[in-house]
Amino acid sequence: MISPENPIGVFDSGIGGLTVVRQLMKVLPRENIVYFGDTARVPYGNKSGEVVREYAVQDAKFLLSRGVKLIVVACNTASALAMDVVRSHSTVPSIGVIEPTAKEAMRQTGPRGVGVIGTLSTINSSAYEGALKSIDAKTQIMSQACPLFVPLAEEGMFDHQATELIAREYLSRFSGRIDVMILGCTHYPLLRDVISRILGNGVKLVDAGEATARSAYELLSATHMLNTQESRPRYEFYVSDFPQKFNEIAERFLGTKLEFVRKVQIYSNGEIR
Ligand code: DGL
Repeated sequence: MISPENPIGVFDSGIGGLTVVRQLMKVLPRENIVYFGDTARVPYGNKSGEVVREYAVQDAKFLLSRGVKLIVVACNTASALAMDVVRSHSTVPSIGVIEPTAKEAMRQTGPRGVGVIGTLSTINSSAYEGALKSIDAKTQIMSQACPLFVPLAEEGMFDHQATELIAREYLSRFSGRIDVMILGCTHYPLLRDVISRILGNGVKLVDAGEATARSAYELLSATHMLNTQESRPRYEFYVSDFPQKFNEIAERFLGTKLEFVRKVQIYSNGEIR
């Protein structure tokens, strides 16, 4: 039986989903969390919809096997391409990052409209456009894939000249044309400073992690599934490759070292154990 003490399950293509975990820990400090990062098959952001959907279902099934009460799809690419299949294979509720983030962007935007940056697959899917237009069909939207941001963030090059140059290349066209920018990729909150510098103070940045964590809170609260136990929450992190490297980079994302990191195996039938 699933009870409020069961963990929240979070999955991502790799390490980037920790930016969402960080927000979940802040907004839901009593919740146990089980995380799966598919570090063996990252990145998802330049893979086809078919492949991302197949992986996302396998990732969700792994979390279900750990007894999670809710699945949070932290990966923007998987949220953009695979929420329907995650939902249809899941016995517990699941939320992605697109809807809550689009809602938050619409709350904050002004007359100029909304910018969206993300991986190639997220931008090509037009999932953010769809979610924004479903709130207000007249919204002005500008989007741009920024594939080089992911490796730059993973390398910790937050304040590097190369990052500044690449960010200018991607972002200059937004100048004076948007009110808010959706950071539509798990890694982009780490590049917040450089992105904000280039877009200018007038542009508000919307972090997918923050909006999604609030949405998880609302869902758990509405279904009476918030964990009220006073004990220290348990955090378990599973990855499909390089647990050591995951732990090192994790500190950059979470601001703290992880106590429990384990490697799991992906079998040829897609089962993760
Ligand atoms: N997690 C992915 C996302 O948010 C970024 C990394 C990848 O391409 O897998 O879209």
